[in-house]
Amino acid sequence: MLIVFLGPPGVGKGTQGSRIATHLKAAHISTGDMLRQQVEDGSEIGKKVSSILEAGKLVSDDLIVELVESRLSQEDAKERFLLDGFPRTIFQAEALDSFLAKRNQEVTVAMLLVADKEEILRRLMARAKAEGRADDTPETVAQRLDVYHNQTKPLVGYYEQLGKLQRVDGVGTIGEVFDRLLKVLDESTSASESTSS
Ligand code: AP5
Ligand code: MG
Repeated sequence: MLIVFLGPPGVGKGTQGSRIATHLKAAHISTGDMLRQQVEDGSEIGKKVSSILEAGKLVSDDLIVELVESRLSQEDAKERFLLDGFPRTIFQAEALDSFLAKRNQEVTVAMLLVADKEEILRRLMARAKAEGRADDTPETVAQRLDVYHNQTKPLVGYYEQLGKLQRVDGVGTIGEVFDRLLKVLDESTSASESTSS
């Protein structure tokens, strides 16, 4: 079960990704968390990316693809993983596909979480107060939304063309969204099993 979580900033990729991954015993791989960890550690990568994260822009495709490929090569991510925040560009999606093809694997399903802009802004402004994540300022949130529309949204068409896209309403309680996701995932897995047998 190789799952990709797509969706705008604040839609719930991290919240739901972590729950779903635990439920499925899959590795939860959040590129945003990985990058923030590098910044916190003060590593060379962290120094390179901290101003990019703070500005709400994307770090380079080469850097992120290398990080993800190395993470996917770890034992716990060989059969089951949930990618949250990656891929974010067509380049990254193609890199993921060719990396998986070498292992005779392919993405099982791309889950697109959907919420309206007002809900997203409400959530991110609430988190800014509660946690103070460096990129939750109004200016950076606006930039992150722009980047999502210009660079990441084309992935919806990419996965749609491959017949792998599932849209899920991300508005409701965390439990309600979780149940919706599980239902769609159950259906997608049984569909992919019947086509591969
Ligand atoms: P990343 O960390 O991926 O940030 P993001 O996509 O902007 O999304 P968020 O993490 O803010 O939101 P989320 O969808 O995870 O929602 P969450 O569950 O937290 O990326 C950060 C940066 O890293 C990027 O800007 C870029 O610079 C860099 N980066 C990362 N990946 C990259 C890549 N592949 N290529 C290049 N650069 C990359 O929820 C949000 C809030 O809402 C939380 O407070 C949560 O508690 C709350 N909430 C969740 N669900 C609900 C609900 N149902 N009802 C009410 N509140 C809810
Ligand atoms: Mg997140």
